[in-house]
Amino acid sequence: MAHVVCEPCLDCKYTNCVVVCPVEAFREGERMVYIDPTVCIDCDACVPECPVDAIYSEEEVPEKWRHYIQLNAEMAAKCPVITEKKKPLCES
Ligand code: SF4
Ligand code: F3S
Repeated sequence: MAHVVCEPCLDCKYTNCVVVCPVEAFREGERMVYIDPTVCIDCDACVPECPVDAIYSEEEVPEKWRHYIQLNAEMAAKCPVITEKKKPLCES
């Protein structure tokens, strides 16, 4: 099991989540971040950090976003680690 970043992160990327992860499980894609399920220890620390509620534990991912489970796993394998906060895409 792991935590999963879902659609609210898309074109937003607040990155508040990445700084609290104790195991550096976040990966940065161009339009959103992903969690590497082989690294995440399900600590829950990132969940309350996201202002748009994009992060769910795998078993709690809403039905409409179930495909994000596979997407996080696939994209995390290809994207670089992110541990520092950046300017969000969605901030005006
Ligand atoms: Fe990192 Fe914990 Fe979030 Fe997993 S649940 S990505 S280990 S902060
Ligand atoms: Fe995305 Fe929320 Fe993190 S918008 S980058 S999951 S704080």
